[in-house]
Amino acid sequence: MASQKVLEYLDAHRQQHVDQLCDFLRIPSISSQSEHEEDCRRAAAFVAGELKELGLVVETIEAGGLPLVYAQSEIKPERKTLLFYGHYDVQPVDPLELWDHPPFEPMIKNEIVYARGACDDKGQVYTHIKALEAYIKQGIELPVNVKFIIEGEEEAGGESIYRYTEQNPEKLACDAIIVSDTALYNESTPGICYSLKGLAYMEIQLKGPDMDLHSGSYGGTVQNPGNALAEIIAKLKDENGHCLIPGFYDDVLELEPDERAGFAELGYTDEILKKETGAPEAFGEEGFTTLERMWARPTCDVNGLASGYGGEGAKTIIPSRAMAKVSMRLVPNQDPAKIAQLFEKYVLSIAPKGVEVTVIDHHGANPVLVPRKSEMMQAGMKALEEGFGAKPVFIREGGSIPIVGTFQECLKSPVLLLGYGLSTDNIHSPNEKFHLSNFWRGARTTAILMEEAAK
Ligand code: BES
Ligand code: ZN
Repeated sequence: MASQKVLEYLDAHRQQHVDQLCDFLRIPSISSQSEHEEDCRRAAAFVAGELKELGLVVETIEAGGLPLVYAQSEIKPERKTLLFYGHYDVQPVDPLELWDHPPFEPMIKNEIVYARGACDDKGQVYTHIKALEAYIKQGIELPVNVKFIIEGEEEAGGESIYRYTEQNPEKLACDAIIVSDTALYNESTPGICYSLKGLAYMEIQLKGPDMDLHSGSYGGTVQNPGNALAEIIAKLKDENGHCLIPGFYDDVLELEPDERAGFAELGYTDEILKKETGAPEAFGEEGFTTLERMWARPTCDVNGLASGYGGEGAKTIIPSRAMAKVSMRLVPNQDPAKIAQLFEKYVLSIAPKGVEVTVIDHHGANPVLVPRKSEMMQAGMKALEEGFGAKPVFIREGGSIPIVGTFQECLKSPVLLLGYGLSTDNIHSPNEKFHLSNFWRGARTTAILMEEAAK
């Protein structure tokens, strides 16, 4: 049991910690929009300020893009070292009209805080900071050395943290990397995540005529980029949800029988999926259950699509251009660079006549697989169980945290993915939220983990 005084401190300061979290949430640190660069820098300064206040040695590192915040406690050689990773940047907020409340004016209703970044990832990063604060403010010796590396380009596919990690493995050296940027299994069941998907994010651009044409005057005489794009997209997958890009599945690491059994035991149903998403029915690659598709099968999905006129009423044109953004979520052993190449080659090979096709490779992320058996996993399980008062289950995630694979490679330390969000917290969507109960339990879990990891 973590020192009672530490947990008492967290309990006594719940309201204060929520108020401070709201200050953090008020900063619109949208990394993908350059007009928010100053805001991102303010968010970095906020994190740096909190860690400085706790007596850590803090550096704000400029590595080409948005700053990295690095901090460390006194490093005693006899103690283990935990490296806490998170991100202070957030996703864009559009469509703004679907928010019930302005995204950067946090609102609390029924013990839930609503704001962009509440769950992804400011609220979760903050559980780490507040757990540390509890030890320091109570004057209790830290059970472990702590290091923090908090970045501001996670949502934008930025390079800074890769460069920094590759060049400074000694500085980040640790016995475990702790990441809270995922979800619990459900409201009453914590989960320890042992796999993240990777990503290859592509864009297809089509150009036909130099300008939009009258669809009567020129219709039928030139290729229509909108139609041509639809043809390409229609060939990405068959009607059973199987991706048709040659070689796409070649490197996929198949699920172990015990993993399939473990997923099945969790009892996730298509009814739950329908309720969570509002989709009329479940759909996905034939031959796999919904959880298997969600967590362990690669995907190929249109993320954005545009061509011609989408405004009110009708406008009779042959559009000059069309574009689609496509994400492929990858599973262990698939290589984003290789998949991006296969995608490009295939799209060019099926491109209809009469349009110029360009394929752009935006950014990638390596998939992650963590051994389920290790001392650190045990420590994580114990901390989650005590912090949440329920036995955790093993889960995987469909989302990506791009730097984690690089951490594994460069730092050679085990990764613990302890998520405190819910899959229904609307991350990347309007009305993002974070349950305060999970915020508080997350901080307790982190505090307990520091002790468990030291054992
Ligand atoms: N917190 C998410 C990752 C995540 C998503 C975990 C869903 C569990 C469930 C993270 O901040 C994120 O959104 N990552 C991006 C990375 C991308 C921009 C390279 C993602 O997965 O889209
Ligand atoms: Zn995110």
